[in-house]
Amino acid sequence: MVLAEATYDVPRTAVITAARPRLGDAERAALVSRIKRLLDERDAALVAHYYVDSSLQQIAEETGGCVADSLEMARFGKEHSASTLVVAGVRFMGETAKILSPEKRVLMPTLEAECSLDLGCPADAFRKFREQYPEHTVVVYSNTSVAVKALADYVVTSSIAVPLVEHLRDQGKKILWAPDRHLGDYIRRETGADMVLWDGSCVVHDEFRSRELEKLCNAHPAAAVLVHPESPREVILQADVVGSTSQLIAAVRERPESEFIVATDNRIFYKMQQAAPGKRLIEAPTGGHSATCHSCAHCPWMAMNDLSSLADTLEHCTHEIFVDDAERVKALTATQRMLDFAAAHRRRVVGDA
Ligand code: 13P
Ligand code: SF4
Repeated sequence: MVLAEATYDVPRTAVITAARPRLGDAERAALVSRIKRLLDERDAALVAHYYVDSSLQQIAEETGGCVADSLEMARFGKEHSASTLVVAGVRFMGETAKILSPEKRVLMPTLEAECSLDLGCPADAFRKFREQYPEHTVVVYSNTSVAVKALADYVVTSSIAVPLVEHLRDQGKKILWAPDRHLGDYIRRETGADMVLWDGSCVVHDEFRSRELEKLCNAHPAAAVLVHPESPREVILQADVVGSTSQLIAAVRERPESEFIVATDNRIFYKMQQAAPGKRLIEAPTGGHSATCHSCAHCPWMAMNDLSSLADTLEHCTHEIFVDDAERVKALTATQRMLDFAAAHRRRVVGDA
């Protein structure tokens, strides 16, 4: 394994968000009904990630939208007949929707919801990195900009990364992977593929700590440990299940244990509780006494999606995603390959909730 020499610090200030005033019950109910009316009037479908606030997830469920992982969000948005998609998540999710559906208007509650993996992999630096490995097949995580996807052969999400890299390995390909180093390391160990890795990380999952997790496991010996593969290697090694958000929800529903320690964004508990109402969910520890935690198991950019910003973007059609068309066309090839692979290998990659 070779790590990229060029690494980029993600500006920590970027993750500090201003707190909005809390809404009262009546105000909240009024906003929810305004959002539902506007979704209808704008011929819009709400496509939400599991990490956004449960109030947004609930609206997506009640209005025929979807709540899903990155792969399913992409697929749902592309296949839906609505002329407008409202993507509640982070920027790369809105951009993926636009890559796949250029004819649709794609709105987001905010355009400032970034992702540390995307920010930590600028296209110019990535191009130079790629030039060092002209023989490699370029596989990038969906958590990247359109410009980086345009430089890739394949886009993948965490639910499809292992089978897709296995498939490339079987063809004798060497892989250049970006940007998440923990996910890259996990894929390399699972597949044995020859991989070079960009040195990026997620500010949320990077905070999970194995020593504190061990203590928690000792306190809950019957609990199964569920880990998203953006977490550090030592945390992944303690897992009973490693998987994408959808795959972790499926594990809560399908496994026999009644307690689960969960190492991913805690907003996923809303769907996990729905999937298995009687089961107990425990947050995996971030940092313990050694905490440098900037997230504490919740993505600060996902948290920027709220009822008010969703209502505003629907009302005024602000926060629309536009992408460079030449880049979009190149990024589409790599993104479509992911959807085609997913369709052909559906049973291996999806843990639909
Ligand atoms: P999933 O594709 O598993 O939903 O992950 C997206 C993500 O950003 C996790 O941090
Ligand atoms: Fe990016 Fe991490 Fe937030 Fe997911 S949780 S969107 S990888 S910063």
